[in-house]
Amino acid sequence: MYGKIKDFLAKELQDTREAGLYKEERIITSKQSAEITIKDGDRDKPVLNFCANNYLGLADHKELIQAAKEAMDRRGNGLASVRFICGTQDIHKELEAAISDYFKTDDTILYAACFDANGGLFGSLLGEEDAIISDSLNHASIIDGVRLCKAKRYRYANGDMEDLEVQLKAAQEQRFRIIVTDGVFSMDGNVAPMDKICDLADKYDALVMVDECHSAGVVGKTGHGVAELFDLYGRIDIFTGTLGKAFGGAVGGFTTGRKEIIDILRQRSRPYLFSNSLPPSVVGAGLKTFSLLKESDALHTKLMDNVRYFREKMQSLGFDIKPTQSAICAVMLYDAPLSQKFAARMQEEGIYVTGFCYPVVPKNEARIRVQLSAAHEHKHIDRCVAAFEKIGKELGVIK
Ligand SMILES: Cc1ncc(COP(=O)(O)O)c(C=O)c1O
Repeated sequence: MYGKIKDFLAKELQDTREAGLYKEERIITSKQSAEITIKDGDRDKPVLNFCANNYLGLADHKELIQAAKEAMDRRGNGLASVRFICGTQDIHKELEAAISDYFKTDDTILYAACFDANGGLFGSLLGEEDAIISDSLNHASIIDGVRLCKAKRYRYANGDMEDLEVQLKAAQEQRFRIIVTDGVFSMDGNVAPMDKICDLADKYDALVMVDECHSAGVVGKTGHGVAELFDLYGRIDIFTGTLGKAFGGAVGGFTTGRKEIIDILRQRSRPYLFSNSLPPSVVGAGLKTFSLLKESDALHTKLMDNVRYFREKMQSLGFDIKPTQSAICAVMLYDAPLSQKFAARMQEEGIYVTGFCYPVVPKNEARIRVQLSAAHEHKHIDRCVAAFEKIGKELGVIK
């Protein structure tokens, strides 16, 4: 039986390789941080990491690791259950309350990942008489979540408010409407125009949902996300987010928002009803994350200083960087082979960044994506910029 599909899969893999789309995993042999080691033949090579979503530098934070260990000691390795059978501990409820407090929302529901939060959202709330109006660059987990829902689908061009209005008008026949967007789009680092989205939602009677995976912890005066950035508290109905990026870098997702919506999700959301609850170690570290962020916004201040420092240095060298209010800096090269060569040379110079080209980004928009972190010191950024300068000159990108 296996022979036939084996040959088919082998051919698919070969085609993927030939198209230059085969994804290799680089093996890290240290904790996740600014300075990491990766496997290079039979040695560990030190490199500086500029491609993690470790925005607040918490992935190897001592206090989080200690909190995870203590939670394991007190509450064990895992729950061996879904939440509603026998998988809810006091600390799960405490973490949900801490997240609601952070986002100033009514209630929160935890998931194993934000992929699940997005996957389990739309079908639980909406039916075929409703409408989902989704940004064209929304994350794969939103796209999959929307596919799992019978509501009529509308798509608007990325951040294009005229197009959103056209789609909202077209969706007026439906019973309920929801506008769905990423807070920060991960390829360009651009922030969704949430103020305008909320105005249009008011005008055309729609709910608003935002995925805060790349924006929470990062944008806003103290890093509390898009509601803080645009002063929209009380106007965004649903936020989804992850514990796997700014908030500790481990795993875990959540949906936070209006009371009745969260209540319904607890009754109906399939990834919540049919998947294990988060392990105590992750919950313990999550609680520590939100308590650290309540005490001080120093990590966010440092992150924003790093973003400014990197952008200023790169722009003064003549690099073309997309405008951003986030920690994602797209260094535009436009040419696909150049982006791959540039990223490979950066790694030879000890700087770990990723080159993106079509089909991940539009044709002729190849770039190197740099992600800044509060774990970076200026000396790390100086080394990164020096490598960009050296290779940029070598490859004729800058003079
Ligand atoms: C915008 C966005 N949403 C959702 C996810 C999924 O998050 P998680 O890793 O918690 O499943 C990601 C992760 O890449 C993301 O970037």
